[in-house]
Amino acid sequence: SGDSPAVSRNNHGGVWVKQRARPRRNRKSAGVRAMVRENIVTPANFIYPLFIHDEDHNTEITSMPGCFRHCAESMLKEVGEALDLGVKAFVLFPKVDDKLKTNLACEAYNPEGIVHRSIRMIKAKYPDAIVCTDVALDPYSDQGHDGVVENGVILNDITVNQLCKQAVSQARAGADIVAPSDMQDGRVKAIRDALDSEGFTNVSILSYTAKYASAYYGPFRDALDSHPGFGDKKTYQQDPANGREALIEAALDAQEGADMLMVKPGMPYLDIIRRLKDASDLPIAAYHVSGEYAMLKAAVEKGWLNEKDVVLETLTCFKRAGADIILTYYAKQAAQWMKEDGLY
Ligand code: PBG
Repeated sequence: SGDSPAVSRNNHGGVWVKQRARPRRNRKSAGVRAMVRENIVTPANFIYPLFIHDEDHNTEITSMPGCFRHCAESMLKEVGEALDLGVKAFVLFPKVDDKLKTNLACEAYNPEGIVHRSIRMIKAKYPDAIVCTDVALDPYSDQGHDGVVENGVILNDITVNQLCKQAVSQARAGADIVAPSDMQDGRVKAIRDALDSEGFTNVSILSYTAKYASAYYGPFRDALDSHPGFGDKKTYQQDPANGREALIEAALDAQEGADMLMVKPGMPYLDIIRRLKDASDLPIAAYHVSGEYAMLKAAVEKGWLNEKDVVLETLTCFKRAGADIILTYYAKQAAQWMKEDGLY
């Protein structure tokens, strides 16, 4: 016959490729696929970022359809709904009035500031919610930078001093986890010491360990009106061309007392997530950032991608790359989809 030698006939005359190992057997049904699945995302893996502002209404963020700057009431509602779906952790990002912004960004540690009031409100209503805070000066800086500026330079050590005051004030308001996103040197150690000496030994540090100077943060800066007033953030955030540098940061953060390490952005940096996972035994977080959200939303609005499928795939890929924790604007929606699918 014309059959190639690799193909023969079985005892019943059927065409038979003499192949013993057939990986398709482990994919043959939904049940078998579920049995051998290596990575599963659950709503408990998520941290849900929420934008807040001091207004009595919500404002939709144009470049992030479906995301809002929440008023206090709406923030509490969003937290409650997410908790019901199994999302337990939240991180707050404030849009601060221009009048309150200064170079030293002192509003960052005003105990009556919007973040502090919001933490207290959430903790009063939902004591089990895990409240995370961003430790960085940019929302409060009249220069739009993550640190104090002098002659066009972002000053490391003065900034770290401000960050310590910010972190302690957030802990005092009830934050469970503080997350420094500023990328100054030595800040994890300084914040750990500041928290400990104020009695907050139980407050965790989720360090933005490998935070890149990325173009994917644009929509977030729209949301907070926090675009840098001059220049860019390349003297403190990492060069997207570098991978080994993330390992230097990871080693320092672990040594300085970080409890969890974050990589940011997410999708274009899966290799960095994997390298940190292999290099450290600390939990690894990935931030699926605003620009990634915006890209997906835009393609979905055009009808070019199926939103549910592409989002759940993306989140699973973070897990596979090594992320234990995922910060995503899709947290509540993804949890809702998982519930609809009867997963949780
Ligand atoms: C600022 C901060 C940024 C994000 C989180 N914290 C923006 C920046 O560094 O300019 C970005 C998050 C996102 O894009 O979703 N400290």
